[in-house]
Amino acid sequence: MAKPKPAISIIGAGRLGTALAIALTSKAYPIRAVAARRAAHARKAIALANLPSQTLALGADQLEQLPPSDLVLITTPDDVIADVARSFAKLRRSARHRGAFLHTSGALSSEVLAPLAQRGFHTGSLHPLVSISDPRAGAEALHGAFYCVEGDGVATRFAKSIVRDLNGTAFTIKPESKALYHAAAVMASPHLVAMFDLAVQMLVSCGLKPKEAQKVLTPLVQSTVNNLKQTSPEKALTGTFARGDVATVRRHLKALAPKQLAEALEIYKLLGLYSLKLAADRGLDPKLVTEIKTALKKT
Ligand SMILES: NC(=O)c1ccc[n+]([C@@H]2O[C@H](COP(=O)([O-])OP(=O)(O)OC[C@H]3O[C@@H](n4cnc5c(N)ncnc54)[C@H](OP(=O)(O)O)[C@@H]3O)[C@@H](O)[C@H]2O)c1
Repeated sequence: MAKPKPAISIIGAGRLGTALAIALTSKAYPIRAVAARRAAHARKAIALANLPSQTLALGADQLEQLPPSDLVLITTPDDVIADVARSFAKLRRSARHRGAFLHTSGALSSEVLAPLAQRGFHTGSLHPLVSISDPRAGAEALHGAFYCVEGDGVATRFAKSIVRDLNGTAFTIKPESKALYHAAAVMASPHLVAMFDLAVQMLVSCGLKPKEAQKVLTPLVQSTVNNLKQTSPEKALTGTFARGDVATVRRHLKALAPKQLAEALEIYKLLGLYSLKLAADRGLDPKLVTEIKTALKKT
């Protein structure tokens, strides 16, 4: 007979907390309770994840009622994790709890759970390297994802068995490097979205409707991501900078000159200089590199 899965409580019923509830319940993890700032949001997450009716829905001021669980997942915003850890560690009832706590922040290490470690809990972090905006689609994305795991031995064992059950892959980052690790994740995902929006606004300035602009740009992003799945960034880089089209760069800079495109111009220049480095590493003629660099720097 398969070993029963650890009983879990989830504090934080937003995008990731709900996605984890859906993904873990599909792998037979019993979810004992879900807590949110507002209990109504915990109830909504329980309904969305189709959890059994006996699952407790709690508000932030009801953590005292958290049922004993083998593992508690803290999926609140980063800035709240320390408060949750401190408040839970202070509760008289926390003495009755055993087991482990894992938070899901990419930027913080398990250090932020120190008050819980001092009360004898095992502590760690489990950060899925995926972007979750909708809980249901997010639950799908959690299957097969990469997860950054760190913490003490027992906590990392809990984290790694979750990763295994979700057919994911675990890797580790030194606790002191987590902020840099997370900044890298921000570059690859939210900043990509910000840049995409900038491209949409530029196409709107060309006369397209925002929805139309998003539709025509999405396959371009998709094909770029496909290239990145196959090859290195230097080889995946295509277009003006990869080819060293100096006159085209000058045309772009002129097109971006109007005041309302000032932000786009600054970002274009900064990223242009970085793309130029990639192109140079791939063997772009140094004369073209210098010409483009000069054009970017003097605009
Ligand atoms: N979303 C992602 O793509 C993603 C990916 C990887 C890691 N993460 C990490 O996962 C964590 C959660 O992110 P998210 O995007 O899921 O955030 P979110 O959608 O904003 O959800 C946060 C949840 O925390 C609850 N909450 C806030 N303060 C609380 C408190 N004091 N006690 C109990 N619950 C509280 C909120 O309650 P209310 O609903 O009542 O406001 C909400 O349900 C963060 O550490 C984030 O870095 C997120």
